[in-house]
Amino acid sequence: MKGIVFTEFLDLVEDKFGLEMVDKIINESNLESNGVYTSVGTYKFSEMLQLLQHLSANTNISIDDLLLVYAEHFFSVLEVSYPDLIATYKDPIEMLASIENHIHVEVRKIYPEAELPTFEVVKKTENSLEMIYKSSRAMHHFGLGLMNKTFEHFNSTATIILEKLKEDGTEVKFLINKN
Ligand code: HEM
Repeated sequence: MKGIVFTEFLDLVEDKFGLEMVDKIINESNLESNGVYTSVGTYKFSEMLQLLQHLSANTNISIDDLLLVYAEHFFSVLEVSYPDLIATYKDPIEMLASIENHIHVEVRKIYPEAELPTFEVVKKTENSLEMIYKSSRAMHHFGLGLMNKTFEHFNSTATIILEKLKEDGTEVKFLINKN
């Protein structure tokens, strides 16, 4: 997992819960990196999972809710870092339907070692989109947060339903309807 995912996460934790919480979850985890991250480095996903698990235990907020809030913050990082990529799109449904064959393709060119999910488009209309998310990392709520913010970016909103196709969240169907 890319370092920027860790650095932005720990910045948000500091912002919302204080530096003591950052130190606490790093100390409670068993991290190869010792909790020292640079935005361009690459680290094990298991480190992110441990940090999330300890933050969840210390705050009584579910990992899914933490990932949702984190993704909403991460979208603003993407808006600042990749404005041209986002400016390719005029419509949220078009943008989300292009994650697999355009957006994440570009991401892979920049970071060949990125660990990305797959998003298979099952059905697309002008105002709706059905996609299947697959990833061993089960970060579907991170996807949900990014989707919410994608609609907000285009001054729109949507109703998004998640249907787990696998109990462990590694395969999830997203039913997206523009409001
Ligand atoms: C992960 C880039 C848009 C869904 C990531 C990662 C990067 C990235 C750098 C981390 C990879 C790693 O740590 O190895 C981008 C850029 C975008 C974009 C530059 C737009 C400009 C989106 C959107 C979605 C999305 C709109 C909406 C669903 C995800 C998910 C992950 C991810 C769910 C977590 C990894 C996983 O589930 O396996 N993306 N992304 N991305 N992205 Fe995107």
